[in-house]
Amino acid sequence: MRRAGAVLFAAMQAVKAAVRPGVTTAQLDRIAESVIRSRGGVPSEKGYEGFPGSICASPDDMVVHGIPSDKVVLREGQIISIDCTVLLDGYQADMARTFPVGKIAPEAQALIDAAKESFGKGLAFARKGYRIGDISHAIQSCVEGHGYGVVRSLCGHGIGREMHEDPEVPNFGKPGHGLRIREGLCIAVEPMITAGDYHVYIAQDNWAFLTRDHSLSAHYENTVAILADGSPSILTMPNGFDGEDV
Ligand code: MF3
Ligand code: CO
Ligand code: CO
Repeated sequence: MRRAGAVLFAAMQAVKAAVRPGVTTAQLDRIAESVIRSRGGVPSEKGYEGFPGSICASPDDMVVHGIPSDKVVLREGQIISIDCTVLLDGYQADMARTFPVGKIAPEAQALIDAAKESFGKGLAFARKGYRIGDISHAIQSCVEGHGYGVVRSLCGHGIGREMHEDPEVPNFGKPGHGLRIREGLCIAVEPMITAGDYHVYIAQDNWAFLTRDHSLSAHYENTVAILADGSPSILTMPNGFDGEDV
C-alpha cells in the first residue's frame, strides 16, 4: 500500500504541475493515468461502479466525483479538487488535494488550507487507543472553528485490497465513540469542507456532488496506516505530513 501511495503521490504532483488556466480536466485525467500506468499501477477509479475517469476532477462548488471532460476548461481564479486512487500489486491507495488555478482569492486559499489543517487534527487521533469518533470530532471542531461547513453525507473509509472497506470514517462525530483503533488498520481520512452550508446535492450526471448553496468546497485526503507501535503513517505522503506536500 505504501508503494501504491508513492505512485499516487507522483501522479498528484504531475497533475498539480499541469493545473493552469486553459487546461481541461480531461487533460489532467490523461496525465494522472499515464504516470500511474508507467509505474506499474492501475487507476482504480476507472470503471469503479462505472465511473469513466482515472481521477475525479471537481471545480469550485463541486465537492467530489466530477467526471473529467474536455469541455471543462479551468479558468484563472478557480479551485480544482483532484481525487485519485491507485491499485498496485493488489493493494489500493487513495488521495485528494484541492489546487488553485492561477491566482485565487485569499478566501479560497484559506478554505484549501483549512482542509489540510483539519486532516492534521484528525491524524493526531489516528493511533492505537483512540476511536474513529475521536478523528471525526477533531476534524469537525477544526473546520467549524474556522466557520466552514463539513459535508455529512460523504465519509472517509477503510482501505486495503478494496478502495472502500469498513469502517466508515465520518468527518463529524463524538469523541470516545465508534470503532477502537488498533495496529494494522488502514483508513482513508478525507475532510470535505465548504465555505458555506454543508448540504450537497447530486448533479444531473448522477456522479458529481455540489454544494447546495454553490459555496466553494475543498477536499484533502490521505491513506493512513496504523503501525505496529500504534502510531500513524501516511502512505500517500512519502515526505510525511510536515514534509513537502504535492
Ligand atoms: N476516491 C474516492 C474516495 O475518496 C472515490 C471515488 S469513486 C469514483 O473514496 F467512482 F468516483 F471513482
Ligand atoms: Co479519494
Ligand atoms: Co477515499
